[in-house]
Amino acid sequence: KSKVIIDCDPGIDDSLALMLAITSKEMHILGITVVCGNVPVETGAENVLKILKLMDRLDIPVYIGEAKPIVREYVSAQDTHGVDGLGGSNYPSVEISEKNDPRGGIKREGAVEFIVKALKEYPDTSIVALGPLTNLARAIELDEEVFTNLKECVSMGGNYRSFGNCSPVAEYNYWCDPHAAKTVYKNFSKIGKKIHMVGLDVTRKIVLTPNILEYMKRLNPILGGFVEDITRFYFEFHWKQEKIIGCVINDPLAIAYFINKKICSGFSAYTDIETMGITAGQSVVDSQGFYGFSPNSIILTEVDSFEFMKMFLIDVFLGEEE
Ligand code: BDR
Ligand code: CA
Repeated sequence: KSKVIIDCDPGIDDSLALMLAITSKEMHILGITVVCGNVPVETGAENVLKILKLMDRLDIPVYIGEAKPIVREYVSAQDTHGVDGLGGSNYPSVEISEKNDPRGGIKREGAVEFIVKALKEYPDTSIVALGPLTNLARAIELDEEVFTNLKECVSMGGNYRSFGNCSPVAEYNYWCDPHAAKTVYKNFSKIGKKIHMVGLDVTRKIVLTPNILEYMKRLNPILGGFVEDITRFYFEFHWKQEKIIGCVINDPLAIAYFINKKICSGFSAYTDIETMGITAGQSVVDSQGFYGFSPNSIILTEVDSFEFMKMFLIDVFLGEEE
């Protein structure tokens, strides 16, 4: 099993990603760190607990991270994810106790400190980042060297050929905190590692359709019902905005790709993130090698969406029974 930290901002699609990560036999989740993004960080942490309760895994530690981007003003995505971050489903909060309190007991330390500590303690740890990269950037600020220990880093964010979802050129996670994304890509350049960028080029091809949702409910009424409740609002949003029947789910693909690298393919390149003006948050991928810098990223451009959906359905909804 791969030791992994999941950094997230749940978030409808983050919640689906957590469901996949938790049920996967390949992942040993050391901790779930939360960052401000789709919703304020405290709301995100509450949502992590809701997912952990649903999946009966309240034993997984949760760490609260950064409440604000490094420089720019914080802009949530509650217009697309609902004020509660779970599509306005208003699932009841999980009662906080010593055992499962992300803000108390053994989980009193913050996300940034936990990331640094875990990387020191377990040098084969990987990170899958499903939100803005603020926690990771702060961890780098705290200990520049520590990421040399990192085994793998998959980041859902950015876009290469695909258009943006927050501006003509930028994807939400990198747009929300462009300075953090820049720090992380720069640091990877320095330490000679590559970020796997699971961006909109591939995630836009993952659409949860009403048919698939029906099948999820048939396979597992409780989990399928939960997915239906949290995606109802998202379905309507996609129909109104883009006339898509169903909804695009970005984050679960980053988990699926982490588990099985054959699900996406792409190329290595040097990437930098723009931080200013109308192009803030744009991932500038030097696919032609203009700058002559060594690659610090693997840019995923192709996806086997059938394999993804198969993994998602089997791992999460079919469970142990078959
Ligand atoms: C990303 O932004 C968020 O809204 C989603 O959770 C995903 O991580 C897609 O741009
Ligand atoms: Ca997310």
